[in-house]
Amino acid sequence: MSLKELVETARAMVDNNKGLLAMDESTPTCNKRFAPLGIPQTPETRRAYREWIVTTPGLSEFISGAILYDETIRQHLGDGTPFAEALSNAGIIPGIKVDAGAKPMAGHPGEKITEGLDGLRDRLAEYSLMGARFAKWRAVIAVAEGLPSRGCIEANAHALARYAALCQEAGLIPIVEPEVLMDGDHTLERCRAVTEETLHSVFHQLYGQGVALEGMILKPNMVVPGLGCPRQEPVEEVADTTVQCLLRVVPAAVGGIAFLSGGQPAELASARLSAMNARFRHRLPWPLTFSFARAIQQSALEIWKGEERNVPAAQQTLFSRARDNRDARRGEYRMAV
Ligand code: 13P
Repeated sequence: MSLKELVETARAMVDNNKGLLAMDESTPTCNKRFAPLGIPQTPETRRAYREWIVTTPGLSEFISGAILYDETIRQHLGDGTPFAEALSNAGIIPGIKVDAGAKPMAGHPGEKITEGLDGLRDRLAEYSLMGARFAKWRAVIAVAEGLPSRGCIEANAHALARYAALCQEAGLIPIVEPEVLMDGDHTLERCRAVTEETLHSVFHQLYGQGVALEGMILKPNMVVPGLGCPRQEPVEEVADTTVQCLLRVVPAAVGGIAFLSGGQPAELASARLSAMNARFRHRLPWPLTFSFARAIQQSALEIWKGEERNVPAAQQTLFSRARDNRDARRGEYRMAV
């Protein structure tokens, strides 16, 4: 695939004030979301969950692409349509999570390294044949006393860059996701410093691996204080700090930036994204949008509870969370007070 085609796909993923839906929870993570709601943790309930999500009427008004998990891309809707085809038919670009998860990192207590490079070239070719047009790889960076280590940041950045190069070789857009975690009581300033160092290392490695920045999407965390930090800055301060951090380290050529929600309250994630777009939209070299999982799905999942009769109400909630985030993308979302 030519660079021009990659660039066109990357643009389509962030165009028209739309964003991405991350519905790619691994089986353990999906089960973890189901457990407190008493939803059976089976392949069939996970399939049924994903089916009502992708068949939500009108979802493509706000969602340009959806990230699937390996189990889901091999499953079908009730009418026999494979998930990737169902998304394409609905006007939503199908993508696929391709990392094999974050595992404890040798010699680095409390830190993780994302695995999945071995055999990735073949898996990407298979996913491409199944209809995927982009991929996702998530690295996690923990913040604590003495963490993150330089070794953890560099190893994860290197893996992200090798994954991204393989994706572009296969004609898939890489979503590059280095997530600085919100767990802990660290301050906003500490998150800013760690995010800046991490992104700096990621772009250094992407350059080293020859990744075309126009043909990738960055999926970063917002710069936020730790969940346990007593001082939680107002929305505008989070927006300003996040944008300032990104402007310092993300090259202007990058195709787009789509934030993860990372366990923020859903409405707060939307309000922060909205403030960034309202305050900086005309000064940014890249579109700023969303690639949320929890901040789009969680409230709808809590309504569904695994019951067929709750599907219409759950779809309505999913639709309105997607619309809220489209509004945030435009800088027009206001949190209800
Ligand atoms: P959250 O929006 O729930 O953080 O999930 C985004 C994601 O894709 C994590 O990899």
